[in-house]
Amino acid sequence: MKVIMYMAITVNGFIAKQDDDTSWISREEWNSYSAAARKAGCLIIGRRTYHILTKQPEFSELKDVKLVVVSKEKVPELISPNHNVAFSPKEALNLLNDFKVVVVAGGGALNKSFAEQNLIDELYLDIEPFAFGNGIRLFSEGKFEKKLELLGVKNITKNELQLHYKVVK
Ligand SMILES: NC(=O)c1ccc[n+]([C@@H]2O[C@H](COP(=O)([O-])OP(=O)(O)OC[C@H]3O[C@@H](n4cnc5c(N)ncnc54)[C@H](OP(=O)(O)O)[C@@H]3O)[C@@H](O)[C@H]2O)c1
Repeated sequence: MKVIMYMAITVNGFIAKQDDDTSWISREEWNSYSAAARKAGCLIIGRRTYHILTKQPEFSELKDVKLVVVSKEKVPELISPNHNVAFSPKEALNLLNDFKVVVVAGGGALNKSFAEQNLIDELYLDIEPFAFGNGIRLFSEGKFEKKLELLGVKNITKNELQLHYKVVK
């Protein structure tokens, strides 16, 4: 199983504004992200991201993707039988044992947990041409250090770059 982290970030490493605003992320970036999730067939997200993402109209594009929400508590309302809860990153991966590629997609707290437990194999970062001063970081503060190897760079649009890294283990 290969674990891919896929995220959109500002040039200064934020994934959302303090109030969770992600309207600065382009439709083209969403298309690239949702294609990656659909290709893998599965997705792992944190409990806060689940509540935000499932309210967005585009979320319906992911209806056939097996989704695992990570939470230390039982998530109250799962909106689809295709959605599951795991109490830890490792349990989330165990629920997706049948998949060759697993996409982990935030938010910052969940990303930190995966990084601390050394569970990320590759990282896709879509760089939006945007900067702001406060917000939610790609990784929440934690105890980890990663050396990365650049595997590829491509344009999503003429204004947006995608960086693809391997985590050196
Ligand atoms: N730019 C992007 O590509 C992108 C992608 C995804 C999300 N986002 C944004 O990121 C923001 C949310 O990020 P966030 O850091 O605030 O929250 P988050 O990572 O989505 O969710 C945090 C919650 O996940 C659960 N969790 C995390 N690590 C865990 C662990 N090791 N074991 C068990 N549960 C764990 C906990 O749930 P419990 O509290 O229930 O225990 C925790 O409170 C939103 O604004 C969202 O829109 C942006």
